[in-house]
Amino acid sequence: MSEEKHLITEQHRYLPDPDMAQSTWVGDYEAAYAAYRADPEGFWEKIAHELHWHREWDRVLEWEHPHARWFTGAKTNITYNCLDRHVFGSRRNKVALIWKGEGDEDERIFTYRHLYIAVNKFANGLKKLGIHKGDRVCIYMPMVPEQIIAMLACARIGAVHTVVFGGFGSAALNARIVGAGAKVVVTADYAVRRGKSIPLKHLIEEAIINAPSVEHVVVLRRQTEQPIEIHREMEVDFYELMEGVDRRCPCEEMDAEDPLFILYTSGTTGTPKGIVHTCGGYMVGAYYTTKHVFDIKDNDVYWCTADPGWITGHTYVVYGPLMLGTTVLVAETLPDYPTPGNYWSILEEYGVNIFYTAPTAIRMFMKMGEQWPNEYDLSYLRVLGSVGEPLNPEAWEWFHTVVGKKRLPIVDTWWQTETGMHMITTTIGSPMKPGFAGRPLPGVAADVVNGNGESLPPGTAGFLAIREPWPAMMRGVFGNDEIYSKYWTTIGNLYKAGDLAIKDEEGYIMVIGRADDLIIVSGHNIGTAEVESALVSHQSVAEAAVIGKPDPLKGNLIKAFVTLRVGHQPSERLKNELTYHVRITLGPIAMPSEIEFTDSLPKTRSGKIMRRVLKARELGMDPGDLSSLDE
Ligand code: PRX
Repeated sequence: MSEEKHLITEQHRYLPDPDMAQSTWVGDYEAAYAAYRADPEGFWEKIAHELHWHREWDRVLEWEHPHARWFTGAKTNITYNCLDRHVFGSRRNKVALIWKGEGDEDERIFTYRHLYIAVNKFANGLKKLGIHKGDRVCIYMPMVPEQIIAMLACARIGAVHTVVFGGFGSAALNARIVGAGAKVVVTADYAVRRGKSIPLKHLIEEAIINAPSVEHVVVLRRQTEQPIEIHREMEVDFYELMEGVDRRCPCEEMDAEDPLFILYTSGTTGTPKGIVHTCGGYMVGAYYTTKHVFDIKDNDVYWCTADPGWITGHTYVVYGPLMLGTTVLVAETLPDYPTPGNYWSILEEYGVNIFYTAPTAIRMFMKMGEQWPNEYDLSYLRVLGSVGEPLNPEAWEWFHTVVGKKRLPIVDTWWQTETGMHMITTTIGSPMKPGFAGRPLPGVAADVVNGNGESLPPGTAGFLAIREPWPAMMRGVFGNDEIYSKYWTTIGNLYKAGDLAIKDEEGYIMVIGRADDLIIVSGHNIGTAEVESALVSHQSVAEAAVIGKPDPLKGNLIKAFVTLRVGHQPSERLKNELTYHVRITLGPIAMPSEIEFTDSLPKTRSGKIMRRVLKARELGMDPGDLSSLDE
């Protein structure tokens, strides 16, 4: 990639509201980062000391590029830190989980004691099925408390969970069950979506046909009126499994480097990769980032809208917040059902203090209009967060103004399934810059580099890389060492994130998009996200996706697919206006040659736009693996 100035030069800077900036790090980012640089292992060791270990480590880090081992010799169990510490400490009757379903009355509440008992019993149930330390258990469930109970129960006995997002189809589920060699699949009879119960029977039956490792299917029955038998020989009822077992299941003492879970990431291309995370380092990384990035206080109600089927749900719905003894809200609902005010109504109803969501949701809120959030009392909110994609400045401003009332900090957290924890983010109390995720967290040696791994000066776009190991880094790709090695450069020993980014003078990092989401037009590198961001900054546009189309003259030309906000109609005039808008925002080289209005854009189930699908359609090519496409 040639080194060239980034197209976006305009930069807004928001100082934090002094009343809101009460984080642990207020004004102290530089000092914390300097402390990390001065003694990286000492920095992490100090954090690790805040958690419970059955045995402490001999060494903080053993690093032999590209393989890291953290807290070697230590023994622990993450569920001890998520549950026992609170139950046998001061939070026994504190609410751990609030589950909210679609209907007004659909609510379930678990204190830390309730959760502790359920996890212990289900763990004992898994043992009854012959599950031992190191066995893999696939969890394929809707967003119900039992999904979290099953995850924690696995971790308690040292079984390795592989959670598969409940929206995946049977082929994708089968690939993950087979890939992980799961002995048990934990699932439910129905998913609930937009007021309808969706039976999962056929899907699960199909998924386990060619999966010889599966011995049992544990089924949560959500509907007793019409019981469905999923699989006659292998089926075990979720709650029957918990009957007659001991209410206590001692934690398996796990080696810090034992695997905790495998999470498949499909990205947008190719076959899914089973990212492996381990017990000790992941625990420390999840704990540290949840504590500092969100600045969670003991009385807070915290809502991360991600499904535990994604890494965000693993780290920031389940493990991180529970380690902190937080009250976690889990909502099995959609932003726009039963009304476009649904999320705002939940925020008001439960007095949510910390709200962590995704750019795709924020853009959807924008599309539905600010009258919805304005109808509700959102005054409990203290921190807003975003994850998963670049939060374009327009959506940032909207979130900040309409939801944050220009007062609240927005933490735009950049990280990956592979990194396990937040890596780059705006920290509470620091200035915020729309479009920029922020600075590397203390503990993270992130940089923007050229193809030779050399640091690039501010203002020059390059590859996002991490120079030093961090505790929550993936330890491997399950069953495929070769893919793991590809994440690392041989020159400079860097971790390649696969993203393009740009740094500014203050070290803030703007993530432009995936390195493969780059269009070369007349020799200029243009990030798809950049053009999309420009389009979305037009008042009529809700979402945009941009692809490159081969062109004999320019190499590629830019084609944009655009969905409009309520109240705007497609027209030739609007096309011209949008083209002109990009021209004045980014310059003539970034102007789309074609604009197509559409009602929706193809997305992965985690909400990422699948440009590959648009491109294949446009060029009449085979779109490839579509298992991650959300229908
Ligand atoms: O391209 C980056 C984008 O999402 C990728 C990681 O995807 P996944 O493993 O599914 O994890 C998503 C949740 C952590 C990254 O390589 N990404 C994630 N967060 C951001 C982001 N891009 C820009 N800004 C972010 N805050």
